[in-house]
Amino acid sequence: MTIGIDKIGFATSQYALNMADLAQARGADPAKFNEGLLLDALSITPITEDIITLGASAADSILTEEDCQTIDMVIVATESGVDQSKAAAVTIHHLLNIQPFARAIEMKEACYSATAALDYARLHIEKNPDSRVLVIASDIAKYGIETAGESTQGAGSLALLVSANPRILELDDNRVAQTRDIWDFWRPNYSETPYVNGMYSTKQYLDTLKTTWEEFQRRYQVTLEDFAAFCFHIPFPKLALKGLNKLITKDLNPDHKEKLLAQFDHSIAYSRQIGNIYTGSLYLGLLSLMENSHDLQGGDKIGFFSYGSGAVCEIFQGTLVDGFRDQLQSSRLDQFSQRQALSVAEYEALFYEQAQLDGQGNATFPAFKTGAFALTNINQHQRMYQKVADND
Ligand code: HMG
Repeated sequence: MTIGIDKIGFATSQYALNMADLAQARGADPAKFNEGLLLDALSITPITEDIITLGASAADSILTEEDCQTIDMVIVATESGVDQSKAAAVTIHHLLNIQPFARAIEMKEACYSATAALDYARLHIEKNPDSRVLVIASDIAKYGIETAGESTQGAGSLALLVSANPRILELDDNRVAQTRDIWDFWRPNYSETPYVNGMYSTKQYLDTLKTTWEEFQRRYQVTLEDFAAFCFHIPFPKLALKGLNKLITKDLNPDHKEKLLAQFDHSIAYSRQIGNIYTGSLYLGLLSLMENSHDLQGGDKIGFFSYGSGAVCEIFQGTLVDGFRDQLQSSRLDQFSQRQALSVAEYEALFYEQAQLDGQGNATFPAFKTGAFALTNINQHQRMYQKVADND
């Protein structure tokens, strides 16, 4: 029996900030963002969109009623949770009408936890071959106006349906994780935005990649030539490119090097338009690769580098399934260009708006554009969601 990803859904916001506009407002050279970070635009959410609406929308785009009757576990991986106690997965389970005898939990370790969720799903299915697990990676990356990280924000959610005999990607057993107790990026409970040691974080990303890859190669006797493509956690695409260049050694066959670099460009096509989506960004890279590359085929091995600050990382691998394209869309780049472009002043007001609660814990919101679900109001400190028939 093989186990892996049977369906993939994606949702992002309906608003975008173009990097050229941000550069102009911040007095930066636009090339610093477009070429220095390899970013063209960032997804920006209004107050009526959060990790629950994004996650429910991503899952709603792929699930059938039959799926909802067989899913017996929902895991939301996030570091932008909206409640310290109640898991976002519980609300999403309700919004999607998933059958009641299911487990619903939230997982956290910065941008890494979706990878742990995926492995937990895999192990659960190994014991329960008929079950299906919905893994949702959902985050809003918000660093603060005029901070160093402002250019690497974003918002989005990936929904991965994990099952036996998957139709997209089989997850292989080979995997190596590494944990390092470091302070490269963290967000204390009292802060809306993270504290970041930016340059240190990039060095840690690259060093954990190098050392974990050495261990992975030692344990499994593989080389880069065993992989048709490598996907990375993408805080911003330029860092992922530096990651790939770290793995490429002088003795790598030049043709294979060229192929890996070409596949890499496909894997960052979506992130260039969306920005960092924390837990989901590795899987957005996979989706982008599969929907934009035309020369991958069933049996091709894909390598993955998952990284979450703090820090935990993992290298693992999967195998594309024959006919995997039948489960995907064609490129979504046109859809992303339909998002409403915001001026910098509009972005600052929209992205940083806070709920104004009255004495009883109630708040209402204007109607912004959202995906299939919206946060409509807060009623006595309880967040209320609704399916949106038409998001225009
Ligand atoms: P910065 O101010 O943009 O840094 O901050 P910079 O001055 O080094 O410029 C960036 C690049 O632009 C450099 O390229 C410059 O040379 C280039 P490089 O030399 O590195 O190849 N550049 C130009 N290129 C063309 N034309 C120009 C020009 N000017 C400069 N005119 C920094 C970068 C990463 C520090 C900042 O964006 C930041 O703090 N971001 C947040 C932290 C982050 O993303 N860290 C990544 C690793 S940690 C991680 O991945 C985990 C994370 O996702 C969180 C989680 O796990 O939950 C963040």
